[in-house]
Amino acid sequence: MFSFFICFFLPFSGMCCVHALEMSTGKIPFLEAVNGSTVLLPCTYASCIGITNLYFKWEFNENGTMQKLADSVIPTDHVEPNKVNIYRERVEYVGSSKGNNISILLWNVTFGDAGVYTCFGKNPKEKGKNHSAIFTLYVVDELRVVDNTLTIIIASCVGGFIALLMAFMLIKNFTLFVLAKIEEKNKECLVTSSGIDNTENGLSGSKSTPKKA
Ligand SMILES: *[C@@H]1O[C@H](CO)[C@@H](O)[C@H](O)[C@H]1NC(C)=O
Ligand SMILES: *[C@@H]1O[C@H](CO)[C@@H](O)[C@H](O)[C@H]1NC(C)=O
Ligand SMILES: *[C@@H]1O[C@H](CO)[C@@H](O)[C@H](O)[C@H]1NC(C)=O
Ligand SMILES: *[C@@H]1O[C@H](CO)[C@@H](O)[C@H](O)[C@H]1NC(C)=O
Ligand SMILES: *[C@@H]1O[C@H](CO)[C@@H](O)[C@H](O)[C@H]1NC(C)=O
Repeated sequence: MFSFFICFFLPFSGMCCVHALEMSTGKIPFLEAVNGSTVLLPCTYASCIGITNLYFKWEFNENGTMQKLADSVIPTDHVEPNKVNIYRERVEYVGSSKGNNISILLWNVTFGDAGVYTCFGKNPKEKGKNHSAIFTLYVVDELRVVDNTLTIIIASCVGGFIALLMAFMLIKNFTLFVLAKIEEKNKECLVTSSGIDNTENGLSGSKSTPKKA
């Protein structure tokens, strides 16, 4: 009955005891790495009922067969595993039981390392239920061409916009200039036709208009 209540209310806080153990490879479970670099394959576990002798392992799906990379047993919460078995070169365990962290490092990545990695966990408290999360590694030669084309697209869009803006400003200024010239010509015509008296009349006229209105 108590566990029913826990399972009824805890989903709202994101941790239901139906799935007591949860493995996670993060919000972005894939990575693109340049060959020769060293990458972190992240994995954490969470369990709201606590762990006892949690068995975990990392596997790599190579040509359809699962190759074990590392495994060990974590005695209980916040206790480091006695010994982490490493089954493949260039793999290093960098996890920490304090952070529920069972991540591994993969050194000097080769193109053959590209593929799907599985972080697997089994908590005997849950009668042999298996839990896992996957992480995909892409290995590339250099920075991708797609990124360059995207940059070019953005750059040309911004450039095009600026060019358009400049053209618009030029046309606007030119139009204003032409309009000003036309206006100037019209003023000249008025001045020449009505003479100097016209400006004096205009000034006194503009002073007296508010009084009249
Ligand atoms: C990555 O692979 C390319 C092409 O095979 C190679 O030329 C380059 O030296 C490699 N880089 C590293 C750091 O291994
Ligand atoms: C997987 O395939 C690659 C290339 O075809 C090969 O070099 C490698 O030895 C294979 N690995 C296994 C475990 O069969
Ligand atoms: C990774 O490559 C560097 C340089 O080639 C080498 O010194 C280092 O031992 C390699 N690390 C592993 C774990 O293979
Ligand atoms: C797990 O540990 C590694 C190595 O210390 C660290 O780089 C990584 O950020 C940790 N991951 C989490 C989710 O704490
Ligand atoms: C859990 O995993 C183990 C080892 O990989 C496997 O032998 C077992 O059949 C799995 N159990 C279930 C219920 O999937």
